[in-house]
Amino acid sequence: MKLHGTMRIDNNQLLIGDVSVEQLREEYGTPLYIIDQKHFINKARIFLDNFRSEKFKTHISYASKAFSNLYILGLTKEIGLFLDVVSGGELYTALAAGYDPEKISLHGNNKLPEELEMALTNNIGRIIVDHRTEYSVLSALAAKKQKKTKVLLRVNPGIVADTHKYIQTTTEDSKFGMSIVDPETFLLLQDMSSDPWLELEGIHCHIGSQVLNKDFFFQEASIMFSFTRKLLDDYSIKLREVNLGGGFGVYYTEADQPFNYAEFLAEYIVEIEQIIAELNLAIEIVSIEPGRSLINSSGSTLYTVGAVKQSYHGKPFIFVDGGMTDNPRPALYQAEYEACLANRMQEEPTDNYRIAGKCCESGDILIEDVALPQAEPGDLLLIPGTGAYNYAMSSNYNRIPRPAVVFVENGQSRLAVKKETYTDLIRNDQKYL
Ligand code: LLP
Repeated sequence: MKLHGTMRIDNNQLLIGDVSVEQLREEYGTPLYIIDQKHFINKARIFLDNFRSEKFKTHISYASKAFSNLYILGLTKEIGLFLDVVSGGELYTALAAGYDPEKISLHGNNKLPEELEMALTNNIGRIIVDHRTEYSVLSALAAKKQKKTKVLLRVNPGIVADTHKYIQTTTEDSKFGMSIVDPETFLLLQDMSSDPWLELEGIHCHIGSQVLNKDFFFQEASIMFSFTRKLLDDYSIKLREVNLGGGFGVYYTEADQPFNYAEFLAEYIVEIEQIIAELNLAIEIVSIEPGRSLINSSGSTLYTVGAVKQSYHGKPFIFVDGGMTDNPRPALYQAEYEACLANRMQEEPTDNYRIAGKCCESGDILIEDVALPQAEPGDLLLIPGTGAYNYAMSSNYNRIPRPAVVFVENGQSRLAVKKETYTDLIRNDQKYL
């Protein structure tokens, strides 16, 4: 298993942020989401230090859908990241964390009128409009509230990025945004640019997630700025901002070879500067929206082994005290992970195990096949690379409470989200009689 961030081994034990995970189990129980705070801050710095230009401003907007709670948003606020939210709930969390509304942008293909209203009431920085109906609702709301608001239009440049089909977002028939070849897109942009209540800042695009080939991002930049030039030439629409979305791929297993972010971002900026110069555009802001690439490798999930069971045909299973409720990604996207026995770090693998969760569902398999030392009940099993879209997509299936989230750094741990209780599970239930 690859050791991420501050992970190290001492006396057969795994430590993260200089805290042994055994100690974390004693203090917080399992399953447990562990976030390596220093590693996260370092990742954020890589983005802030390398995606910057003398020619235009750059906004690094953390895609909070990857992992959102008051603690992480307090941290991203302090680090100086902008923020992308996709729902009233994510916006509420951001505002409760004290985020500067100007730094927030609201996404979504079907924003509810009340979500748009919430964005206007709270003066959030940008609304990324998805389609004409939303534009009409927003325009009417802004007029009613007499509130001017900055908007971008989400466009689809038709790039088919090489990733799982559920997380491709600019395929021909994607539900997101407006195609750059659709004549209606130009009409909509004309209406948006002449709307008295909307300030059309620019265009936005997100080509998909877990994209490991950086060529797609270069292709995206080229198409997006050329489209910006076309809008100016053919329709006299002048844009000051282009948002290129997120999607930068990460390491889950040896099958994933992500590009080096520092190198890529520096190269990306140079390329963008050149394109803008060649096209003679007056772009003032270029934004990106990393989610997974910022948080994923900082997060791990810690489980206790309940049993080791041999199937009749000889497959050894390790059963853990969590599963698809804390990580639905293997079931949803056939995602693959590495693992270790965190209390047997220096022991040699003896078997190839299948890691199964405790849900009443055969598909509740976290890892199909992983070589581990001889496992026993009570061992600690840790799956790294679970920072993004695990806690965020966790559920209460089988009425299993969500695990706690703890941040570790310099030998200290801080509880960020309490473990749910059985009382939490029935909080909104109403009795029959
Ligand atoms: N911006 C927009 C508009 C997005 O839709 C997304 C992700 C991002 C930025 C951030 O993308 P990232 O840098 O994290 O790849 N649940 C799936 C991932 C869904 C991604 C949705 N949009 C998974 O677990 O793989």
